Amino acid sequence: MINVYILNGPNLNLLGKREPEIYGSNTIKDLEDLCDNHAKKSDLKITFKQTNSESNLIEFIHDAIEYADAIIINAAAFTHTSIAILDALNCFQGYVVEVHISDISKREDFRKFSFVSIRADLVIMGQGLDGYIQAIDKIVEETSEN
Ligand code: DQA
Repeated sequence: MINVYILNGPNLNLLGKREPEIYGSNTIKDLEDLCDNHAKKSDLKITFKQTNSESNLIEFIHDAIEYADAIIINAAAFTHTSIAILDALNCFQGYVVEVHISDISKREDFRKFSFVSIRADLVIMGQGLDGYIQAIDKIVEETSEN
């Protein structure tokens, strides 16, 4: 059984209502259901968390250090600002996938830099919610190779 933590940062609880032209019309519950259903196809246990607080996100990463084999993280705006999240991820030994629903490389300049990318083993952006599914597939692939 592979334990995967899916961690979502600030304002992602508003998916579906939040700038739908950028982030689409699906809610965070839809995203959680999508990931859970997909995980059933593999021997995968998903722990799905969202927070608007940087300190909670760091605590979730600390939990993952104890309990998870891989992390899928969309740190949202903290992606571009948080050395503390990078430091926490640097303490995690497993596979890390950074996901962004939108393509941050094609948006405002302040979104182009990501602290999370410094640690991430893989970065997926601009694929909508399917980015999370691609991340799960990659983790299954990586963990079955090892
Ligand atoms: C985001 C992109 C970030 O720049 C933004 O602050 C978010 C969401 C994305 O999923 O596209 O909140 O991480």
